[in-house]
Amino acid sequence: MRILVVGGGGREHALAWRLSHEAEVLASPGNPGIAEDCETVQVSTKDHDGLVALCKARSIDLVVVGPEDPLIDGLGNVLRAAGIAVYGPNQDGAQLEGSKAFSKAVMTEAGVPTAAYQSFTHPTEAIQFARSRFDLGKGVAVKASGNALGKGVVVCNDFDSAVNAIERMMIAKEFGAAGDVVVVEDCLVGREFSVLTVVGDQNFVTLPIAQDHKRAYDGDQGPNTGGMGAFSPVAWITRELIEEVESRIVRPTLEALKAKGITYRGTLFSGIMMDQGKPQCLEFNVRMGDPETQAVMLRLGKGYADALLSSAVGRYIEAPEVSEQATVTVVVAGKDYPMSSSKGLPISFGELPLGSKLFHAGTSLVDGQLVTNGGRVIAASAAANTLPEARKLAYQAAEAVQFEGARFRSDIALE
Ligand SMILES: Nc1ncnc2c1ncn2[C@@H]1O[C@H](COP(=O)(O)OP(=O)(O)O)[C@@H](O)[C@H]1O
Ligand SMILES: [Mg+2]
Repeated sequence: MRILVVGGGGREHALAWRLSHEAEVLASPGNPGIAEDCETVQVSTKDHDGLVALCKARSIDLVVVGPEDPLIDGLGNVLRAAGIAVYGPNQDGAQLEGSKAFSKAVMTEAGVPTAAYQSFTHPTEAIQFARSRFDLGKGVAVKASGNALGKGVVVCNDFDSAVNAIERMMIAKEFGAAGDVVVVEDCLVGREFSVLTVVGDQNFVTLPIAQDHKRAYDGDQGPNTGGMGAFSPVAWITRELIEEVESRIVRPTLEALKAKGITYRGTLFSGIMMDQGKPQCLEFNVRMGDPETQAVMLRLGKGYADALLSSAVGRYIEAPEVSEQATVTVVVAGKDYPMSSSKGLPISFGELPLGSKLFHAGTSLVDGQLVTNGGRVIAASAAANTLPEARKLAYQAAEAVQFEGARFRSDIALE
């Protein structure tokens, strides 16, 4: 099997690395770390025709799309129209991530447990609705409906901050068109986790659970980030809980999509919050999480490539092998991440412990020298028989990554 992985971040490095154990893998555009594990070809994720041409030229059997943007932009449709098997939904299914208003409407139709909400195109009505929720003694989350790069949600504990958030999104247009429609929903309270499911026409298979750490600094302090680390398995997330998420959230959502004539083939990422002991769906994404993917890929064995191909061609999906080992990923970020990203600083590596793997997230090669090229630079990952052991190895690997200002949280995987 010949697979093309589309994208060039830490998630795509982990995907390409895992898949390269069972298939011939190309990545486009890839990054210098990916280039150590498989062939990379410089075609932009925005160049849909270029990707079709690459698939034809290289007889690609399966395209695995890493990031959401190309899917929201319809890369799945373009590739499928050219007769190429794709792991990743078409534009219609990708609205689950591209439009929070769409996603909430599907959840409601499907009877999925989720916070009460309304969506708005006018700020005055949004503000009125927020007022009515505060009058009932509830807080609200104000969400730019479109793709706001993970920055479009403001959790508001008082009415003034809700008004402020609505005005920033709908009047000042801080997130551009992503704020044309705004979702206002009730605040939930509880622990969060995400469930990654490989979805096909006949069935779906949930991957091992990984928990990420979103805040920039130790003790869950500081600003939100794309994710500073992850680990798997997660002791408090029981099999029963995963089954409850599957039966109350994943399955009804896929049925509601089907009823709309939407065929969904790809990853369904369900963002869950345990509110009063019950899983509530916060959001859907249409791709794997980063850095959860890095922790999950280290636990997968044989059969992952086949599972993705089966999804892409509408066959029954067999679950891939999952190792009993524990895995930990520690993100090594630039000094000022997430406020700004790091560019052009030379990177070197000390000795890496056995069982560890560095996934490149934001690196590039300049005149043969590896340099930083992003906020999150390297995802230092490791697998071992126990979580504390994996943690120790991942931290040794993180310590071995050297560039000016390199920084990581010290409490990843301390549950
Ligand atoms: N209804 C809600 N109640 C409380 N917190 C929320 C709610 N919705 C979202 N959040 C918080 O905001 C974060 C981001 O929201 P989410 O819907 O996942 O959007 P995105 O990941 O696209 O930014 C969540 O991880 C959660 O911490
Ligand atoms: Mg989210």
